[in-house]
Amino acid sequence: MNWVDSFAPLTAEQARIMREDFQSQGKKLVFTNGCFDLLHAGHVRYLQQARELGDALIVGLNSDESVRKLKGPTRPVNSELDRAEVLSALRAVDGVVIFHDKRATGLIDAIQPHVYAKGGDYTPESLDPDELAALQRAGTQIQILSLVPGRSTTSILQRVQSPLPSAGVLEEKKPLLLAVLGSGKGSNLRAILSAIDSGVLSAQVVVAISDLPDSPFLQTARAAGVPAHYLHPGDHPRKFDLKAQYELVEMLRKAGADLVVLAGFMRILKSPVFEAFEGRIVNIHPSLLPSHKGATAVRDALVAGDEQTGCTVHLVTPEIDSGRILAQAHVPIQPGDDEESLHARIQEQEHRLLPQVLAHWHQLQAHQIGVVSTSC
Ligand code: GAR
Repeated sequence: MNWVDSFAPLTAEQARIMREDFQSQGKKLVFTNGCFDLLHAGHVRYLQQARELGDALIVGLNSDESVRKLKGPTRPVNSELDRAEVLSALRAVDGVVIFHDKRATGLIDAIQPHVYAKGGDYTPESLDPDELAALQRAGTQIQILSLVPGRSTTSILQRVQSPLPSAGVLEEKKPLLLAVLGSGKGSNLRAILSAIDSGVLSAQVVVAISDLPDSPFLQTARAAGVPAHYLHPGDHPRKFDLKAQYELVEMLRKAGADLVVLAGFMRILKSPVFEAFEGRIVNIHPSLLPSHKGATAVRDALVAGDEQTGCTVHLVTPEIDSGRILAQAHVPIQPGDDEESLHARIQEQEHRLLPQVLAHWHQLQAHQIGVVSTSC
């Protein structure tokens, strides 16, 4: 077939016949569906994974009309035939069927695929109930696939739509060079790296430093290719001795950091660091400061019987957890919450808030403005 001149998507009937042929040959037909408006590496990898679940992959593609119903009047960017043609050109895709409803229920009923693949932000429970019922009717096996973090059509559109900076602003907007310090799991470091990856945050993590050798924080940094260093904090279990503070300054200078981010770093910085990076150290803290300063903030909010807590991004000053507040997010405390469940919900907000503050760093610093964001 000459694809350039005569591309035609499959009909639902052709896909159904394909499924019947497969059934008689003991092969498996995999089906997935979506809008696939601006194809990106995340889609490609996702479709490859889906294809590996069987012997051929059919993609149900939302028509232009159904994309508008799902995503609003400005979408899709590309027409249904163009989207179908681009998808069909992928090695992983064996056929594309365009469908006109918001959901693929009718198509699932028609094709009755052996396997149904869906992206990792779903669970079998959160699938559309009608689609789920159709899959159950057809005896289709459901597979949830992991999505590639940081790749999304929305982030592409955000980058395309942000106005082009003038020459002067361009200079000012060169990527922010970050040094991230942590003693914990490294989830905030991951959130920063993911925001950089998706283009939401124009920055580079030039060094990651921990007071704990082989901490998950350092492992996260290494896995992402970030230069990662253990800094021996001295012999006291909680203190951070002066010699180590000077070493830290040396490491930060050598890495060329513009800004130091404390992402779960549990030692207290002293004057050598403040002198070298005055006004350029931020911390994320798991409470609504000034409430619950210190190392046990989540527990303290529960013990105090608070109705809500949250997280705060603030400038670091010699007085613990007391510098200028840059942003806060609120998290309601629910009946039955324990420290773990509450901290998990606070961290969801941290992962949104910290990259957001870093993305606004130049404005925050230049205008001395306060809170950039609060949310529930
Ligand atoms: C974060 O929740 C952060 O707010 C907290 O440590 C956690 C680190 O998590 N920081 C403090 O308690 C500082 N007083 P992470 O290692 O998964 O990013």
